[in-house]
Amino acid sequence: MNALSWQQDWEMGDDRLDGQHMAMIRAINHLTRRLEEGRAKEGINRSITFLMMYVEVHFREEEEAMERAGYPGLAGHAAQHRECSRRIGILMDKWRDGHSDVLPDLLTFFNFWLASHLGGADRRFAEFRRTAA
Ligand SMILES: [Fe+2]
Ligand SMILES: [Fe+2]
Repeated sequence: MNALSWQQDWEMGDDRLDGQHMAMIRAINHLTRRLEEGRAKEGINRSITFLMMYVEVHFREEEEAMERAGYPGLAGHAAQHRECSRRIGILMDKWRDGHSDVLPDLLTFFNFWLASHLGGADRRFAEFRRTAA
C-alpha cells in the first residue's frame, strides 16, 4: 500500500485538528511499513489499539468543534464518523478473535476512508468556518 502523504488543501487552519489528522496519517504509514516488514507482533498490536482509540478521540473533538461553531452539517458529518467507527469495530473484533490477517484490510480501509474524508467532509467544515469567521 502506498504511503499516504499530507495534502496542502486538507489543512483546516485549526492547529489542534490539523495536528490530529497529521498524527493519524503518520501512524497509518508507520504501521503499514511495520506490517509489510513483518515486524514484531506485540508492538504492532499495541500501536493499532492506540491508533483506533485516537481516532475516536479525534472524532469527538472534531464534533465538539462543529457544535461550538454552530455547523449545520454536524449530524451528517457525525454519521460519517459513526460509519467509519462501525467498520473499524467489525475488523477490530475479528482481529481480537485471532484473525491477525485483517490488519492490512483495516489499515487499507482507514487509509482510503481518511483521505476521502479529509478532502471532503472535513474540508467542508473548514470552509464553513472560514466563511463564518
Ligand atoms: Fe471528520
Ligand atoms: Fe477529521
